[in-house]
Parts: sequence; C-alpha cells; structure tokens
Amino acid sequence: MKFFIDTANLAQIQEAHDLGVLDGVTTNPSLMAKEGIKGEAAIIKHYEDICEIVDGDVSAEVLSTDFKSIIEEGKKLAAIHPNIVVKVPMIKDGVKAIKWFTDNGIRTNCTLVFSAGQAILAAKAGAAYVSPFIGRIDDTNWDGVELIAQIAQIYSLQGYKTEILAASIRSALHIVKCAEVGADVCTCPLDSILGLLKHPLTDIGLAKFLEDAKKM
Ligand code: G3P
Repeated sequence: MKFFIDTANLAQIQEAHDLGVLDGVTTNPSLMAKEGIKGEAAIIKHYEDICEIVDGDVSAEVLSTDFKSIIEEGKKLAAIHPNIVVKVPMIKDGVKAIKWFTDNGIRTNCTLVFSAGQAILAAKAGAAYVSPFIGRIDDTNWDGVELIAQIAQIYSLQGYKTEILAASIRSALHIVKCAEVGADVCTCPLDSILGLLKHPLTDIGLAKFLEDAKKM
C-alpha cells in the first residue's frame, strides 16, 4: 500500500518525505485555503513547490463543476508537472470529464466518493484513483473501512484498474484497517502516519535497553 500525505502544508510534506515512506500527496480546496493559497498564480506555484519535494503523484483539485470548465482547469493543472493528477468530484459533469481526461492521457483522482456505485462509475470512466472518504462515512455511523473492502472486492472481480485511495483518514488504526482490506493507497494527515510509530512497549523497552547499556 502506498502512503500519500493529505495536506498542502509544505513543512509537513517535507517531514513525511524525510521519513522516507512518502509516495505522493493529495490536496483539496479546504487544505489549500488553510495554507492561505489564493489566486491562480499562487495555486500553480504551490503545486510546483509540492512537486519539488515529492517525486510521486500529487492530486490537484479542480474548482469548476461544469464539464467545459473542468476540462480547461484540469488541462492547466496537468501542465504544471507530469506528476500532477487532476482531482475531479463525483458529479455527472465530473464523470464525463474523467472520461475525457482518460481519453486524452491525463490521469485523474475521482474525489468525494461515498458508495460502491460511485466507485464503479469512477472506474468505468477510467479514473487512475478513486477516493472514498472513510472518516466522513464513520462520522455518519457507517463503517468507512467496509466501503473500502467492498470496492476492493468489486474491482478485483471486475478487473478494474483504478487504484483505491482511502481518504479522510483520521487515525493510525484507519491506515492499518485500510491495508488489511486491500486499499492501494492511504492518504493521511502527518499525525496518523506518525501514529504508526507509537507503542508503549517500544518506549518501555528502549528505556530499559538504554538503562542497561550504561552497565556495558
Ligand atoms: O482529501 C480529502 C479528504 O482526505 C478529507 O478528509 O478529514 O476533511 O474528512 P477530512
């Protein structure tokens, strides 16, 4: 399973990259706004900066919702760097646009996916990635990880090539569960990635080793 970081914060992207386990980055309009990125020039520059840090796929989301504008915006985003993947929402014009991008050699990430039916449509349109938001599903008292398992089963049975990119990750446990049920990628906040490091017995064991090392 690949690890992407779900942020537009350059310091966090750099920290995850320095850990040596980072395969890519996902952003969305909320994450870009959080970093104060405003206007076309600043958006392009920010994606360039991210692509400088990480040698892997970087999802850049379109802000348009009609077919023609999604295509125009997506073409501009894809021209920034070969690693840019155009992130398109799961709406009718979005699906049409994903098919157009696929036919024209531009890779896409279909976002805001909350059901297996939506995931099937994304795969049929040729999306490189599908992004089910598991944390937000958990928030509604359904099991987000179960959706990942269901999509994984369908894609495997049907031979769909779209990669399952588990998004809206809220914890290290989410990452483990997604790996267990066959997600291809997990896009995570830095805290969840670092959460994988933690175990109290590791801390207790290390303290004991360091104490005993003084007697060596
Ligand atoms: O990038 C989309 C997704 O990961 C958003 O996560 O925490 O806002 O539900 P969250």
